[in-house]
Amino acid sequence: MKLIIKDSYEECCKAGAQLFIELINRKKDALIGLATGDTPKGLYKELINANSKWEVDFSNVRSVNLDEYKGLAGDHNQSYRYFMKENLFKGLNIKPENITIADGLAETSAEEKRMREFFAKNNVDMQLLGIGRNGHVGFNEPAEKLQSSFHYTDLTQDTIEANSRMFDNVEDVPKGAYTMGMGDIMRARQIVLLAFGASKVDAMTKLLKDDYVDPMCPATVLKMHPDVTVIIDRELAGLLGL
Ligand code: PGA
Repeated sequence: MKLIIKDSYEECCKAGAQLFIELINRKKDALIGLATGDTPKGLYKELINANSKWEVDFSNVRSVNLDEYKGLAGDHNQSYRYFMKENLFKGLNIKPENITIADGLAETSAEEKRMREFFAKNNVDMQLLGIGRNGHVGFNEPAEKLQSSFHYTDLTQDTIEANSRMFDNVEDVPKGAYTMGMGDIMRARQIVLLAFGASKVDAMTKLLKDDYVDPMCPATVLKMHPDVTVIIDRELAGLLGL
């Protein structure tokens, strides 16, 4: 695992965006795996900025998102499809038909089948990840067994509480979601994980400082991937004693 420590959130986002820009400049039709949450917002601003200056062209780029809430329509303001439109896609020259995101309103087994077929045919070139305070990646929640393929999952109470900041009431947070499985994530050729803030210290300690793969901290599976870049700011590095 390669670790990059930068002075600020903005510097981290620039470094992460640069990896995507370099990939797309050498592979015009790259399939990029995207994430939602507070973590990637700055990186998305960098990509929009680079695209507006024609330093990178998204016209042949394909994207797939890690996850989506079950039960929310794509135009719901808390759906991940809506987040992606507002925070990234509306600022890029990416083609709508090249964007893949699970449909939160689709019937579960049909949506699992559709997305599993997508991942059977397509390998992600570069996957962007944040990390949950409980160590989840995508919505692969801590569990005795981790699922490999794209699937529906119930959300843990910890994740519901962590995500309730985006909703009026904790009761409004969906109780389940679709997510890429750990196998889909591990098949990405390159993985870029960004993390910031004191709430991530426990999970990042398990990822960076322990030598164990622990399904109760799903991100630790990434230790077995040959090309992972972890980008953190100096503040988190300090809290981790790095
Ligand atoms: P965050 O979420 O970027 O909002 O911290 C990360 C995650 O839950 O994966």
